[in-house]
Amino acid sequence: MLRNVSKRYGKRTVLHIDRLTIHAGRTLAILGPSGAGKSTLLRLLNFLETPDTGQIEYDGRLIVHGRLPLTTLREVTTVFQRPLLLDTTVWQNVAYGLRLRGRVEREAVVAALQQVGLDRLDRVSARILSGGEAQRVALARALVIKPRVLLLDEPTANLDPANVTIIEEVIQRLRREGTTIVIVTHHLFQARRLADDVALLMDGALIEAGSGEQIFQQPRDPRTAAFIEGRMVY
Ligand SMILES: Nc1ncnc2c1ncn2[C@@H]1O[C@H](COP(=O)(O)OP(=O)(O)OP(=O)(O)O)[C@@H](O)[C@H]1O
Ligand SMILES: [Mg+2]
Repeated sequence: MLRNVSKRYGKRTVLHIDRLTIHAGRTLAILGPSGAGKSTLLRLLNFLETPDTGQIEYDGRLIVHGRLPLTTLREVTTVFQRPLLLDTTVWQNVAYGLRLRGRVEREAVVAALQQVGLDRLDRVSARILSGGEAQRVALARALVIKPRVLLLDEPTANLDPANVTIIEEVIQRLRREGTTIVIVTHHLFQARRLADDVALLMDGALIEAGSGEQIFQQPRDPRTAAFIEGRMVY
């Protein structure tokens, strides 16, 4: 849960959220135009950045930055908008998170690679991968550690339909298994397919948040209505 959370860069406040609850075990899609603060919000949610005001509660406990339990940090994983892969094999990239946690399990790496359909490419260098393959490695790297909370920043941006389908299937499975997922996306249809809850950000403000059904069928804010009908000019 976030309360009165804001984030400034220099003098500019790029995010201000009065209240937002992320429900455990559900999938939240964050929608909004470019520059709305979506990636900034994810960086607060994965504790990479500290809010300038307000409070973030995780699992009912107030997050005090600099005093985060390692267990909490390790439960939350992010697939970034522009994922950086290590200059090594696909296999090593996926095993990396497990190694940090001191437990490389061969089967877990194989299973993660299978889920994203890359088990045959495990020995190749991550350098030679296509954009879609690289994005799938980034997803495998996240899911191999079985996160409790998975944050996805436009995981299918610029991908072809086949790659989008593979990635969405993985997300659907994690969702069924009860992983808490926050997905930033520009695709309204993707949000409809994947999300239980939807939040709309504009200019750093939370315009509206609710169940997918409510947001898509009965948006309360005129800006939400305009956005989901594609009437928004941005
Ligand atoms: N490290 C930073 N320093 C200064 N300004 C930043 C920084 N990171 C983000 N911003 C600014 O904050 C605003 C919100 O950025 P953010 O990346 O969160 O937007 P976004 O909603 O993810 O956009 P997009 O859909 O294009 O990814 C932008 O105006 C951006 O320029
Ligand atoms: Mg972004």
